[in-house]
Amino acid sequence: MKKQINIERLKNTINKSAEIGKIPGNGLRRLALTDEDKAMRDLFLSWMQEANLETRIDDLGNMYGRREGKEDLSPIVIGSHLDTQPNGGRFDGILGVLSALEVIQTLNDYNVETLRPIEIINFTNEEGARFEPPMIASGGLSGNFEKEYIYNLTDQEGNRFEDELTRIGYKGKMKNRIQNIHSYLELHIEQGPILENEAMDIGIVEGIQGMEWMEVKVKGESSHAGSTPMHLRKDALTVSAKMINIIEDLAIEHGVVATVGRLSLEPNATNSVPGEVIFSLDVRHFEDNKRKNVINKMKQKIVEIASYYKLEVEIQCLWEVPAVEFNSNIINLIEETAKSNDYSIQRLPSGAGHDAKYMQDIAPSGMIFVPSVDGKSHIESELTLDKDIEQGANVLYQVTEYLARFEYSIQ
Ligand code: GLV
Ligand code: MN
Ligand code: MN
Repeated sequence: MKKQINIERLKNTINKSAEIGKIPGNGLRRLALTDEDKAMRDLFLSWMQEANLETRIDDLGNMYGRREGKEDLSPIVIGSHLDTQPNGGRFDGILGVLSALEVIQTLNDYNVETLRPIEIINFTNEEGARFEPPMIASGGLSGNFEKEYIYNLTDQEGNRFEDELTRIGYKGKMKNRIQNIHSYLELHIEQGPILENEAMDIGIVEGIQGMEWMEVKVKGESSHAGSTPMHLRKDALTVSAKMINIIEDLAIEHGVVATVGRLSLEPNATNSVPGEVIFSLDVRHFEDNKRKNVINKMKQKIVEIASYYKLEVEIQCLWEVPAVEFNSNIINLIEETAKSNDYSIQRLPSGAGHDAKYMQDIAPSGMIFVPSVDGKSHIESELTLDKDIEQGANVLYQVTEYLARFEYSIQ
């Protein structure tokens, strides 16, 4: 009989996490580096210490817990993120971190001694909902972002990342960053409908689609809502609406996903014509060239529409990340492990971004997906069933134990 994680204990930690930053509808609002994030971090730190892990924090606020191995070899690293979207769910990221803790507790239950050390990790600001772009701390760890760039990021109120990290007491030392990783594993909810539709237990993630985040600023002219005739207006919002419609049409026509998820307008008053609009644009596809071509078409249309209505427009790229394929040996190992438990499996790409994306730059990496009810995520009603949590965490446990037990080298 293969070793199993303790689902009651794991459910209990997930439920305790779901109390911190709780919002109506079973959701969570636990934005990175807020008081809620601090409260969750403090609790997670105490849990890691209770599990006899040696804890440390790096200069980006990433939290680590280390379980020593018999030899001083590179560690197996498992984790995800504890921050959420503004109206997020109880599982996105959280499942991966708390299952990593459960893996450690299960190893402790069975007194398993591993050859390699195991480190669990909570990455800072994966969501990018407060400090854009997302996956910033795994991006820093893997050398994709300079520390100064990360420290100077600001939220919508102008608060600096570094100041907020210091304020909540989670600015650690650069020497604490993890290096020399043997392999990285992340368990996550699918956040889409494929596994549920196919009635599959476990998703074997092949890779992550490439993505680009942009910001579009449309400048018109604010004027009085009652006294400005319709034909004399330079309404930045109605023109932005036309742009957003074309973005959607182009996305459908070319088979990419494109989202305008953030929009602000000035002066934002019922009786004033909007003079300025700023909206975000997130475009993703598994083929980088295709994504870039469609983005160029979108940009062309945006500029054409602005000039037709005699408004000014600026389009700025905030962040871009190419598609990634995970390590084939890790993919195969996850698949074999899932099958050996008689779980049904489906290989699939990830539509969402994850810290594993950047970790693959510095270590052989892989991801395990479990089904999301109705494919929903980034919403309060996000749900994954206990049975699926248990199966996913068992696969994470068994793959971690396997990799840590032997002198197993990954190409
Ligand atoms: C992260 O959650 C992303 O996919 O944007
Ligand atoms: Mn996530
Ligand atoms: Mn997310």
